[in-house]
Amino acid sequence: MAILLEAQHCQMTFRGLQAVKDFTATIEQGRIYGLIGTNGAGKTTVINMLSGVLTPTGGKILLEGRDITGLRPDQVARLGIVRTYQNLRLFQKMTVLENVIIGAQMHEKSNVVAGILGTPAYRRSERHLKEKSMEMLGLMGIEDHAGVIAGSLPYGLQRRLEIARILAADPKLLLLDEPAAGMNPQESLELVDRIRHIRDKFDLTVLLIEHDMKVIMSLCQYIYAMATGEIIAQGVPEEIRADPKVIQAYLGRAV
Ligand SMILES: Nc1ncnc2c1ncn2[C@@H]1O[C@H](COP(=O)(O)OP(=O)(O)OP(=O)(O)O)[C@@H](O)[C@H]1O
Ligand SMILES: [Mg+2]
Repeated sequence: MAILLEAQHCQMTFRGLQAVKDFTATIEQGRIYGLIGTNGAGKTTVINMLSGVLTPTGGKILLEGRDITGLRPDQVARLGIVRTYQNLRLFQKMTVLENVIIGAQMHEKSNVVAGILGTPAYRRSERHLKEKSMEMLGLMGIEDHAGVIAGSLPYGLQRRLEIARILAADPKLLLLDEPAAGMNPQESLELVDRIRHIRDKFDLTVLLIEHDMKVIMSLCQYIYAMATGEIIAQGVPEEIRADPKVIQAYLGRAV
């Protein structure tokens, strides 16, 4: 299978604190990866590096063989790596649909002058954006809420909206930071199905951080487990479940 992304010895040090000491991973096209670890293990920092939010203090990130280390988040997003946030970052006062249109716009060559003049081409592209955004809302099962103010949606639906928004940006790789946080078991199961469905539909690659082991074990084909800034185990779900280091790191928790 083709390699989409490679992280080579990525490190992140914050004023002396080594949040990530060595993150090395190979992400193949079309697969779903899990990133697990106890609180403070460095998981979000990894996603921050892969999405350009943080520039690694060491190591390299290659996307389809191209070195993207140090690119800005908008540049990384245009190359196809998009992410959600552990603490939601929606435009709370805009509608659900508007939030997704903003995600989709990133990829349209919208022209401000054409917009002001209201040219036919601009109107066509606007219609296209709206249709595409509605499709993404449909895939996340929230199309009925399109006209609702985002901030008034229940938390679990806001999480789905975040995914709809990044899907609209024509991504190659989705980085999801705890997409099932705050969801009940039923909602989490539904989310697993939806993530699998969008992966199949768009031939996407997914890397998700999640504390919910049911979500991780049922969705991910390959898992990286971190503790204190390092990868302590990696493998298919069965290997991770049986790994002594993982069991020890999660002592007292069902894996
Ligand atoms: N911007 C920052 N400045 C300083 N320290 C940071 C920063 N971001 C993260 N850290 C520290 O780096 C370490 C790893 O944090 P990170 O958020 O990556 O953990 P995590 O695995 O995502 O944890 P959680 O499961 O709680 O979300 C923690 O000790 C955290 O306090
Ligand atoms: Mg985190």
